[in-house]
Amino acid sequence: RTDTVIAPSLLAADFARLDEAMAAVAGEADWLHVDVMDNHFVPNLTLGPPVVKSLKAATSLPLDCHLMIEDPDRWAVGYAELGAYNVTFHAEAAADPVAIAKDLRAAGSKAGLAIDRDTPVEEFLDILPAFDTLLIMTIKAGFGGQSFIPELLDKVRTARQSARSGHLELRIEVDGGIADDTIAAAAEAGADAFVAGTAIYGAQDPAEAIRRLRALADS
Ligand code: DX5
Ligand code: ZN
Repeated sequence: RTDTVIAPSLLAADFARLDEAMAAVAGEADWLHVDVMDNHFVPNLTLGPPVVKSLKAATSLPLDCHLMIEDPDRWAVGYAELGAYNVTFHAEAAADPVAIAKDLRAAGSKAGLAIDRDTPVEEFLDILPAFDTLLIMTIKAGFGGQSFIPELLDKVRTARQSARSGHLELRIEVDGGIADDTIAAAAEAGADAFVAGTAIYGAQDPAEAIRRLRALADS
């Protein structure tokens, strides 16, 4: 296992006060999770390159861009060029995931592959060496505030086992319903990066919520 990463999701913050949302987690977060939705891949619409560009200029936190968009073959590399630390796109939307990963790495970012709720992980195990991050959704992608689906941790176990036996340095990130009562199970299954929206921005004290989540993940 590598060091635990906690990534607050701005989706749960006030979009009129993103600077305050970043300041609230600055000392505690490892990455800042930015959910890009295009109203086609998922039935929700958030933000795109202009906002990512402004976030990049406004924070020193690494940007973890989660692209819930169609045609990542065309659009993903643009986020790497804007300076995202990690760019994760959905396997279900990609025509050539390995080619996208190569483009992302060539543009200077880490490459991430996301697997939505209804997609089995098995068919992607053989392309994991092309990726730095595997994001296993623990809900159906599209909205914050949904309930964690514990059965989906089987995919984390399968991927972690495969990464171990292949000696891959792979981050396995979980996203959806991660909170005080679910994070330990996800860590136990083999996840080492944890996205949390509601559990962090819905808390009275977001920094304290991160400290608590980290302690539970490491327990
Ligand atoms: C939903 C997004 C998540 C979302 C998680 O599709 O990918 O990052 O913000 O929200 P919570 O932590 O509230 O489940
Ligand atoms: Zn996300």
